Amino acid sequence: MVTCRGPARARRGRELADVEVLHDAAVLVDGDRVTWVGPRHEARDVHSAFRIPQSAIDVVEVAGVLFPGFVDCHTHAVFGAPRLDDQERRALGEDYKTIAALGGGILQSVRDVRARREEDLLALTRARVATLLAHGSTTIEVKSGYGLDPATELKQLRVIRDAGASGPATLIPTFLGAHEVPPEFRDRRADYVRLVCDHMIPTVARERLAVACDVFCEPGVFDVAQTRTILEAARRHGLAVKLHADELEGSGGAELGAALGATSVDHLAAISEAGIRALAASDTVAVLLPATLAFLGKHTHAPARRLVEAGAAVALATDFNPGSSPTMSLPLVMVLGVSQLGLRHAEVVTAVTVNAAAALGLAGDRGQIARGFRADLVSCGVSDWREVAYWMGANLVTAVWTGGSACRPSPGPVCLGFHVQA
Ligand code: NIG
Ligand code: FE
Repeated sequence: MVTCRGPARARRGRELADVEVLHDAAVLVDGDRVTWVGPRHEARDVHSAFRIPQSAIDVVEVAGVLFPGFVDCHTHAVFGAPRLDDQERRALGEDYKTIAALGGGILQSVRDVRARREEDLLALTRARVATLLAHGSTTIEVKSGYGLDPATELKQLRVIRDAGASGPATLIPTFLGAHEVPPEFRDRRADYVRLVCDHMIPTVARERLAVACDVFCEPGVFDVAQTRTILEAARRHGLAVKLHADELEGSGGAELGAALGATSVDHLAAISEAGIRALAASDTVAVLLPATLAFLGKHTHAPARRLVEAGAAVALATDFNPGSSPTMSLPLVMVLGVSQLGLRHAEVVTAVTVNAAAALGLAGDRGQIARGFRADLVSCGVSDWREVAYWMGANLVTAVWTGGSACRPSPGPVCLGFHVQA
């Protein structure tokens, strides 16, 4: 069992490599909480100490390795069709601008999501959440951001609420109305920033449809000043703040996130030295997304080692989305964390558990197998725990429990993305 037990906060520096590994271990769960963790031979004494009758105990034997449920702290799981043409055009050497000009890019997904019925988006999202869960993600952050108008952003956020309502995975909703400037505001970008601040954020907060607000802070999308304006408005309405920062070009997004007390800044492939120092001195979690760079065919990556060594809290996530990262597998991202980012096996485990929970403000509740923590557990069919970040592309997850209950395996093949309009 890999417990990741320790302080209920993000881990930094050497702490990242300090996951507790117990052999022949047992975990006692009561309701949705972990009540005890220790050597299996002590479990019987614990039962009597707690005065629990044998008949009241369900014993589940797990072969392999048990981990805390993985936390995917950055996804864009509510979308319609996959963007296969973008992928092929990129393979043939077209750049981002040309692809967008040919009708691809984020705005293609925006047209699609605007036109699609809410119940169809819900069915697609449920199937994707089942797939994320089958790969071990028990808590999943999901962003809006393919609506870019009040009605469609709210439609996406209701889909997130409804897809998470009956469990078994926990979905954490983030408002990303500032993912791109919609075409109808192309020549009056400041008006769109005002719409986001004065109308969309207050509505989302009032209807309690999101717990956080994110902005794509990137030259040519939302600059640092606009990002600050939007996130300060979000703050005033009680939302936590997050940034897509320093993804393609460095622009000071990491520094802004640290200054605003963001729960996380995400991407960071182009972060500056000053940005690294700012994060190391802050509580903001650095969320790295190596699957995105790999899928886009880039050969650069975020400076993960330098971030860890500087003392920043590093997490990993899928960035699951139709344009730049169509993967639902955190274990695949863990493999990339080791082989592309130069992280150690233990560091990538911390990065998808304790630190990913911290990136959502949940470090006190999940991400560890420890007394008082939520009983979200994942078992993998491996004999050495490090294999979870080794068998590239295989799904090693054998069982998943959320809030102490076993999740049923996802039903047969599911459709993850329809091309045809309903
Ligand atoms: O995180 N960077 C901006 N947003 C997404 C890409 C979304 C898309 O291409 O649809 C990302 O990579
Ligand atoms: Fe993203």
